[in-house]
Amino acid sequence: MSPRKFFVGGNWKMNGNKKSLGELITTLNSAKLNAETDVVCGAPTAYLDFARQKLDAKIAVAAQNCYKVASGAFTGEISPAMIKDVGATWVILGHSERRHVFLETDELIGQKVAHALSEGLGVIACIGEKLDQREAGITEKVVFEQTKFIADNVKDWSKVVLAYEPVWAIGTGKTATPQQAQEVHIKLRDWLKTNVSEQVAQSTRIIYGGSVTGGTCKELASQHDIDGFLVGGASLKPEFVEIINAKH
Ligand code: 13P
Repeated sequence: MSPRKFFVGGNWKMNGNKKSLGELITTLNSAKLNAETDVVCGAPTAYLDFARQKLDAKIAVAAQNCYKVASGAFTGEISPAMIKDVGATWVILGHSERRHVFLETDELIGQKVAHALSEGLGVIACIGEKLDQREAGITEKVVFEQTKFIADNVKDWSKVVLAYEPVWAIGTGKTATPQQAQEVHIKLRDWLKTNVSEQVAQSTRIIYGGSVTGGTCKELASQHDIDGFLVGGASLKPEFVEIINAKH
C-alpha cells in the first residue's frame, strides 16, 4: 500500500463553456468517486468561480496559472489571492503549454511557485521533456533541472504535487508506457531524496500526465511511483470518472 494518497487532476485547458462544463460537473457530482483519491478540476480563469460554485465540495478546484505577485498593473494576469477569493485551492504551474507556447522560463515558474505557496495555495508543478530531448537521451537532465527550479522555491512540500508530463505525450494520443513513466518517476523520487529529504521523497505525490485515458489509467496506476494523473482531453468526458477510480 502506497503511503501517498492517489491524486487525480483534470486540466480543462481553454475548453468548454457554462453549458458543457455544467453538464460535466453534473456527471462528476453524481458519480461514485473513490474517497481515497484527491480530485481537483483545473478550470479556465473565466469559469473558476462557476466551477467552485457548482462542483461538490469534495472536488477541489485549481486555476491553470497565476502571476507571481498579489496585485498590480499586470493586465491579463490573476493572483493567488484572487484564486482563493473564489474558493479555489490549487494552481497548476509550469505546464508545458505555459513553457513552450507562452515561453515561461524556469525562473518565472519558480517565482510563481514561491508566491502561490506563500499565499496558501496547493501547487501542481509540471515538468517534462520534449521528444527531441528524450531522443537525445537527456530526459533526466531536463526534468531534474526543471525540478530544481521548483524545489528551490518550496519550503512546505505537503502542498506540492509534482506532475511529470512528457511533452510528446500531451494531446498526442501517445501515452507513455507504464514502464517509461515509472522509470522517470522513480528517478524523480530519488532526486527528491538526494536533494531535499527522504521524508519528502516518500510523501510527495508524483503524478503522470500525457494522453491518459480510461483505457490506459489502470496499468499506469499500478506502478509503484505513479501517484495519480493530470488529465487533459479525457477530463472533459465522463471517462474522467474511470480515471479518478483507476487505483481501486
Ligand atoms: P492530454 O491528457 O490531453 O494529453 O493532456 C495532458 C495534459 O497536458 C494535462 O495537463
